[in-house]
Amino acid sequence: MKMGSFSLPHLLSVFTFITFFLVSQTGPATGLPLTTNSRWIVDEMSGKRVKMACVNWVSHLEVVLAEGLNKQPIDAIVGRISSMGFNCVRLTWPVYLATNTSLASLTVRQSFQRFGLVEAIAGIEANNPSIIDLPLIEAYQTVVAGLRKGKVMVILDNHVSNPSWCCNNKTDGNGFFGEKYFDPDLWIKGLTRMATLFKNDHNVVGMSLRNELRGPRQNEDDWYKYMQRGAEAVHAANPNVLVIISGLNFDTHLSFLHDRPFALTFSGKLVFEVHWYSFSDSDAWASENANKVCGVLAANMKRQSGFLVKRGFPLFFSEFGVDQRGTKENDNRCLNCALAVAAELDLDWALWTLAGSYYYRSGIVGLEEVYAVLNWDFDGVRNETMLHKMTSIRYPFQGPGLSTGQPHKVIFHPATGQCVVRKSQSGPLALGPCSSSDAWHFSRDKKVLRIRGTPFCLRAGEAGKPAQLSKDCADFDSKWKPISESNLQLSTTTGKNDTVCLDVDSANEIVINPCYCVSKDSSCDPSRQWFKLVHSTRQPNLEFFSN
Ligand SMILES: *[C@@H]1O[C@H](CO)[C@@H](O)[C@H](O)[C@H]1NC(C)=O
Ligand SMILES: *[C@@H]1O[C@H](CO)[C@@H](O)[C@H](O)[C@H]1NC(C)=O
Ligand SMILES: *[C@@H]1O[C@H](CO)[C@@H](O)[C@H](O)[C@H]1NC(C)=O
Repeated sequence: MKMGSFSLPHLLSVFTFITFFLVSQTGPATGLPLTTNSRWIVDEMSGKRVKMACVNWVSHLEVVLAEGLNKQPIDAIVGRISSMGFNCVRLTWPVYLATNTSLASLTVRQSFQRFGLVEAIAGIEANNPSIIDLPLIEAYQTVVAGLRKGKVMVILDNHVSNPSWCCNNKTDGNGFFGEKYFDPDLWIKGLTRMATLFKNDHNVVGMSLRNELRGPRQNEDDWYKYMQRGAEAVHAANPNVLVIISGLNFDTHLSFLHDRPFALTFSGKLVFEVHWYSFSDSDAWASENANKVCGVLAANMKRQSGFLVKRGFPLFFSEFGVDQRGTKENDNRCLNCALAVAAELDLDWALWTLAGSYYYRSGIVGLEEVYAVLNWDFDGVRNETMLHKMTSIRYPFQGPGLSTGQPHKVIFHPATGQCVVRKSQSGPLALGPCSSSDAWHFSRDKKVLRIRGTPFCLRAGEAGKPAQLSKDCADFDSKWKPISESNLQLSTTTGKNDTVCLDVDSANEIVINPCYCVSKDSSCDPSRQWFKLVHSTRQPNLEFFSN
């Protein structure tokens, strides 16, 4: 068949299909489309910030169907996505779904039959009978429509060309322009087709042009050439969507943008994306001191991509994730550090990943995904503690149109995803939702952490006791300094001249303890004592605001 062309009957059926969903749904997810205002993604109509809090949903493997439709009805999965606190999905797709007509027109049943997936077919027949005999491209549209019905925004993410698991650094043929499966012209055709096909789906708010560019062929000149062409093609086909651009080296590297701009003929739609996983640095997190590794790698991330927000570009932290069983020290330590950076830079983000198991991945039937927020059967959350911690960063600390106060700090605790809050006017202090934080002010010269508009400052008192709120802010034990290579341990000196750190006890109260695991030691995890002073302009908690 001719690559990249849909036959007329096919287009007609797509059209009927779209029309059906347009009349049957109640309205767009929120005030869409989205646009950019400096580094912020905002609602184009109101100008108000929309913080993207997404989860990745895999739909680019050999069978080319969003995972889990053999386990649960689409509506049930979409309902869970919302109730878990995500407002958006980064939905992956392979180029060939858009360019290979004989692939796109295989029915779901035929696609699964190719791999002998008899059980999965029965599961889809039981849970989603209306899609089992749809062509793959229409099944993909049905998932997007299901997300729209559930008021979940969608970012179409071109993950690979040839449907398969991604990504490795050897030549899997999908890594960079010119590799076996990665023909730039075909890729542009695929992007154009997808942009066109979803033009009227107003919950499709962005297109991620290509996931994790990598491998021996990667180079900056081709990156500029093709990513600019891809961006222009998508914008020409659908001027409403955000155009999201991945860096080199598995989407970790964008530092070349420091001195070579990414020129486009349009404005207000460009977003960059970045990924961060523990395994990119082999087992550094577990085998070295976590303060040191966090200090080095957080600085590295800011140099490679984080700087873009200061240059006025939105940065979408579009993949990060860990083994949700919580048993991998390497993952856990990395996550705490990454959450501190994500809160500090107030990034839009997408967690890896939704699907608790795969129909068929890398030759294995029913493979379990321990990085997933949903369990194997897609009917519950794998780990509530982990989920709560990871989704805590959906709270926007800054941005246009949010209820605003004076610029201030909140004291963010990445290990729990919570912030330091007052339980009553003069304490005690505990962890709670960041939206309940007071407006802390940190004076760089005096080193005092004071709650604005009150006489209270944070004072250590004695090691082993709760941290205090005091009106007497002149002593040594109310002068705070971030220490360690990560700068995440907040320390001071007690009356007995001991160096102590802010800590959390088992009841989530804020206490004072000797600083631990500050350097050298790799056998310990300092994250219980990690606090990040995050800049915020939100209206602070006014509950105890008297005098
Ligand atoms: C198109 O897809 C079909 C079905 O998967 C496959 O057999 C064929 O090789 C593909 N063609 C190309 C050019 O990739
Ligand atoms: C992948 O290979 C490139 C060279 O082709 C190398 O520079 C890079 O460090 C490798 N990345 C990983 C994560 O192994
Ligand atoms: C959930 O994750 C936490 C770490 O955040 C871990 O301690 C706990 O054992 C995990 N629970 C389950 C059920 O896997």
